[in-house]
Amino acid sequence: MAQENLAAISEDYYQISEAVLSSFPKYRLPLDLFLLQEEVVLLVPYYKKETRLSNEQVEEMHENCKQGLLFVARSDHPIYSQHIVKQLDLALQDQNLKESEVADIFIRALSLRLAEFFEQPVKVVFDRIYEDCLVFTEFLWIDRHRIKLFMRRLHKGDHSLINHTLNTMFAGLWLFMRIKGAELARKELDNHALGFLLHDVGMTKVPAFITAKNTPLKQDEKEKIPKHVFAGADVMRKMELLDDDALALCLEHHERMDGSGYPQKMNSSRISRSGAICAVADSFSAMIQKRPYAEAKPPLEAAKELADDARYDRQISTALFSDIFSGSFGKEI
Ligand SMILES: [Fe+2]
Ligand SMILES: [Fe+2]
Repeated sequence: MAQENLAAISEDYYQISEAVLSSFPKYRLPLDLFLLQEEVVLLVPYYKKETRLSNEQVEEMHENCKQGLLFVARSDHPIYSQHIVKQLDLALQDQNLKESEVADIFIRALSLRLAEFFEQPVKVVFDRIYEDCLVFTEFLWIDRHRIKLFMRRLHKGDHSLINHTLNTMFAGLWLFMRIKGAELARKELDNHALGFLLHDVGMTKVPAFITAKNTPLKQDEKEKIPKHVFAGADVMRKMELLDDDALALCLEHHERMDGSGYPQKMNSSRISRSGAICAVADSFSAMIQKRPYAEAKPPLEAAKELADDARYDRQISTALFSDIFSGSFGKEI
């Protein structure tokens, strides 16, 4: 009976950790808490959200929490995760969240941070992305297979710069970690994650009426698009993101192996591995979303098209296709 009760409890509730409890306002919490009655293994209501606590009650609450007796209803997950989104490091400390819940929290947090930064690309705003990005790479560093959680969560709806950026980062990091294997260094992982997040930051300088157009661009409009590459690299330098690989993700993601890309018309002899990875990840990410001028393609179809296209690094594009084809992400993405 006790076992059954415990299983039922963990279905609908999770234990709240001391780190998370301490991060809430001390006297008035935004969610209900439940107390475990150990003898009967049942949860009883303990605290009603937004009521005022006395000092003694605060103390007792923390004592109960330390002993693992305090629980939050999963139905309050939106409030709980909204809170963690703002203090992302808690996502790593919280042992009670499922990995899938942590992945959703990362996506929400990084989306918010990117929105702030694209709105206002200055150093203080970048520092917040930087911090959250390092929490994200720490999450991957602990277990690099966790990138699969994010590959299963690629955005496939309408194109937006934020969703495109996250898709590119997830697919790009998957490819980068796969290719590096055991050689992967933490610093490289950090620099690549940051570089992917900023690879298209220059697009914020291209007028929205051009990027949203669903008719062919006029010559003068066409000329504005390639400028996002150098504009992006300038923003990265201003943010003091000076790592060569991170810059290459931005500078080379539109270059192609046969020299047909832009803006520098580099060919396979000059394009770096990081640049080649970003080219595949960026195109894949664009193809699986609905854009003003094209329908979204299923991921497998998009990856197949890239693997058949000699303008992309064959080793990289084939790796993406074969991983999706063989179901490496646990299910069809
Ligand atoms: Fe781009
Ligand atoms: Fe892009």
